[in-house]
Amino acid sequence: MNIYQVNNKWDYLRLLLLADEQKSMIEKYLYKGAMYVLDDNGVKAEIVVCDEGNGVLEIKNLAVEPQSKRQGYGKKLVDFICEHYKEKYNTLQVGTGDSPLTVPFYEECGFKRSHIVKNFFTDNYDHPIYECGIQLIDMIYFVKTLR
Ligand SMILES: CC(C)(COP(=O)(O)OP(=O)(O)OC[C@H]1O[C@@H](n2cnc3c(N)ncnc32)[C@H](O)[C@@H]1OP(=O)(O)O)[C@@H](O)C(=O)NCCC(=O)NCCS
Repeated sequence: MNIYQVNNKWDYLRLLLLADEQKSMIEKYLYKGAMYVLDDNGVKAEIVVCDEGNGVLEIKNLAVEPQSKRQGYGKKLVDFICEHYKEKYNTLQVGTGDSPLTVPFYEECGFKRSHIVKNFFTDNYDHPIYECGIQLIDMIYFVKTLR
């Protein structure tokens, strides 16, 4: 298993869309973000992180191939980012919908709930986003201290 940075970020659009289904939203962060892929007999997952200033690094996109979920790849990428960036940043944050698919994952990775951005999904996406049959409305931020 190998995790490495890639520059041909748009080649991974299919994976990016699994975590963020609107391309115009991906365009907002992909050019400035650093992207890493996890390769284990083929690319199984990707993560994009951006410098948000004031010692804060943000996970903008994290996706695992559907048939490779629950094998620890998502957590391995988060752990890699924590280790790789711990000297440079104080805090790792991530915003996600209030979904039973993602909230337990981030909690398992050691994140704590921070704040809510009201109506993020309804204000920023051109169509309703559903997960597990529930419409995502607000963005919930989670934070993890890196040092
Ligand atoms: C969320 C996501 C990145 C998790 O990646 P993953 O590789 O499947 O997760 P891991 O195997 O590393 O899970 C680590 C732990 O998190 C928790 N967890 C992960 N997925 C979970 C789920 N669907 N429900 C409940 N707990 C979950 C579990 O405690 C898990 O440990 P376990 O499998 O031993 O019980 C993956 O499901 C995904 O790509 N989803 C679609 C895209 C997405 O929603 N991205 C996040 C947007 S910000």
